[in-house]
Amino acid sequence: MFDQGLLRQEPLPDEMRILLDKYPREAWAAHPNFKQATQNWLGAHRMFRSLSKTVRRDAEKYLDKRIDPQDYAERLLHRGNALIGNLHGHHGWEDYAYFPELSAADPRFDAGLKILENDHKVLDEVLHDLTDAAIRTLDFIQSDDQAAHEEVARVYESAQIVEKLLARHLVDEEELAVPIIIHHKLRG
Ligand SMILES: [Fe+2]
Ligand SMILES: [Fe+2]
Repeated sequence: MFDQGLLRQEPLPDEMRILLDKYPREAWAAHPNFKQATQNWLGAHRMFRSLSKTVRRDAEKYLDKRIDPQDYAERLLHRGNALIGNLHGHHGWEDYAYFPELSAADPRFDAGLKILENDHKVLDEVLHDLTDAAIRTLDFIQSDDQAAHEEVARVYESAQIVEKLLARHLVDEEELAVPIIIHHKLRG
């Protein structure tokens, strides 16, 4: 069971905002150093926000009996796989390639990157719970209504935590990384 105390609520420390004040979010789109690779990375974040919301809402529909169990199982299989698989790949790449690139360009933000790396570890724990509950849901959905209901309640719980965690993590990550990229002309 995931320990809710691990959920980081507070934003990154103020000293991590020195470049964000110079390159605020509203100014990114018009900046010549805001290239396609960075736009694609933000697009992946939008997909994660949307997928985690869909997985949570679908579980809600099942629990309220507003969706046929077989339809729900199919949606969970596809959306759940897409969310979990893509998030694992995305975080692995950030930890091993993206964050080291940002750190090499500007080591002043290493403390922020450490916090973001830790978010990935916490997220992995919740994704583990989500995966487990999703697999058990798919096992039970045709044979045991009550057991399936209990597992979907766990899917709902975990998806809700993933959504909350991502809401904090993605904004902080974007507002740390994009100003470094623009300032040092990276990824273009
Ligand atoms: Fe991340
Ligand atoms: Fe990310």
